[in-house]
Amino acid sequence: MDDPAPQQSTVPEEVARLTIGTAAGEFGLRAFKCGSGFVYLALVKGDVGDGRGVLTRVHSECLTGDALGSLRCDCGVQLRTSLRSIAAEGRGVLLYATGHEGRSIGLVEKLRAYVLQEDGLDTVDANHRLGLPADRRDYGDAAACLRLLGVRSVRLLTNNPRKERGLRHAGIAVDGVLPLATSPHVRNIDYLATKERRLRHVDPAGSPPLDGIGEAVDIAPLIGRATTPRARPFVVLKYAQTLDGRIATRSGDSKWISGERERRISHALRAACDGVLVGVGTVITDDPQLTVRLVPGSTPLRIVLDSRLRLPDEAKVLDDQACTVLIATSRSSRARRRALDARRVGVRVVDPGPEGVALAQALSVLREAGVRSLLVEGGARVITSFLAGRLVDRVVVGIAPTIVGAGTEAVGDLQVARIANGLRLTDRSVYTAGEDLLVAADVAREPDAPEVR
Ligand SMILES: NC(=O)c1ccc[n+]([C@@H]2O[C@H](COP(=O)([O-])OP(=O)(O)OC[C@H]3O[C@@H](n4cnc5c(N)ncnc54)[C@H](OP(=O)(O)O)[C@@H]3O)[C@@H](O)[C@H]2O)c1
Repeated sequence: MDDPAPQQSTVPEEVARLTIGTAAGEFGLRAFKCGSGFVYLALVKGDVGDGRGVLTRVHSECLTGDALGSLRCDCGVQLRTSLRSIAAEGRGVLLYATGHEGRSIGLVEKLRAYVLQEDGLDTVDANHRLGLPADRRDYGDAAACLRLLGVRSVRLLTNNPRKERGLRHAGIAVDGVLPLATSPHVRNIDYLATKERRLRHVDPAGSPPLDGIGEAVDIAPLIGRATTPRARPFVVLKYAQTLDGRIATRSGDSKWISGERERRISHALRAACDGVLVGVGTVITDDPQLTVRLVPGSTPLRIVLDSRLRLPDEAKVLDDQACTVLIATSRSSRARRRALDARRVGVRVVDPGPEGVALAQALSVLREAGVRSLLVEGGARVITSFLAGRLVDRVVVGIAPTIVGAGTEAVGDLQVARIANGLRLTDRSVYTAGEDLLVAADVAREPDAPEVR
């Protein structure tokens, strides 16, 4: 693809200067009206001093990703990660480039290209079908703003070599490029692959699970084909067990069976899915937050199976870090449902089932609500229910190098009397994650397995 031809840009006019508090801390905000007519915002941390080697992100505006948290792209996560990196360093600039929407084809054309992508075109071909270039961003305005800020050379946060060349051509020295990979979501895995293959971005989805500890973890080989069935989400069952098959000791302790690397992969799997699900037993025992913290990625919808709504009021899963839905039955009290509603916690009532809630119905409710991919993290009863109900598409099991003897077994009774009748696992792969082993496999569907009701 052609490199951006630098356009003649007039000196931007500074139109506002103030401080702004953000989730990543306080920044100086300077607004510049550029020759193109667009207003660029610079979030400046610390003193740029001699202007050399300034940690810099030139972030192309993306309304859907940045403001609405769309999972079609990686923009929102990149924006937040850049701000955090700059805040951590204590010196740097995030330049928010308005007019770069949809790689500068504009919002309407970007949305039209999205519609074409629904029919199978990739992001490059969709633009071409609309008679537009794959990327028409120009970096002249960005360079002019950086000069006004006193930035003379940058360490650029980007995966995009064209952006680096664009800034160089526009007169900004680039001392180095720092990758800004994000852990992929099932919904943007193909988009990230296209950016790598056709737009030459460098590892936008991070490192494969078998590499050393990277920032983002590309879970594509772990998650497999990820095709969503008609009546329920694509279900990935993930748990960590000891070599002797325990997910907790006999006192219920499970922190931490697996090491840091394996737990990062769990967070990357969360970031890959629309929802993460546990049973209320795990909430009561472990009080997990179920957010994505160890990799750059978005936290999915948190879902708890809790037929009587007995989870504690102070459970972390009820905090406001992410959206939460509880799946209950009519055995829960109306007053409790109302109280949770007032805390903006969703409650969906389904029929009771033998183990709590009717699982197939719960999954159908989630699918109708738009949950296409679901990570099930346990605990033991929930794992057993999903496997017994043949409701798992992919298993990912971490195996830790320890033996604890009596404890909570990962999988309970599946009514299997003969080895030959065990669940068949296909498309298998094995990785090491630090000291742990990771086994991923598809759960073969029985030929006559009923669809979920
Ligand atoms: N190592 C790991 O990867 C890992 C991961 C998670 C948990 N754990 C460990 O697992 C242990 C907790 O296991 P657990 O079995 O007590 O908890 P759980 O499986 O998380 O929760 C079970 C509870 O969920 C509710 N539930 C509602 N519908 C259900 C259904 N269809 N099937 C199954 N459960 C349903 C039931 O409570 P109601 O009847 O009240 O609805 C049930 O008692 C803890 O020791 C925890 O540390 C380990």
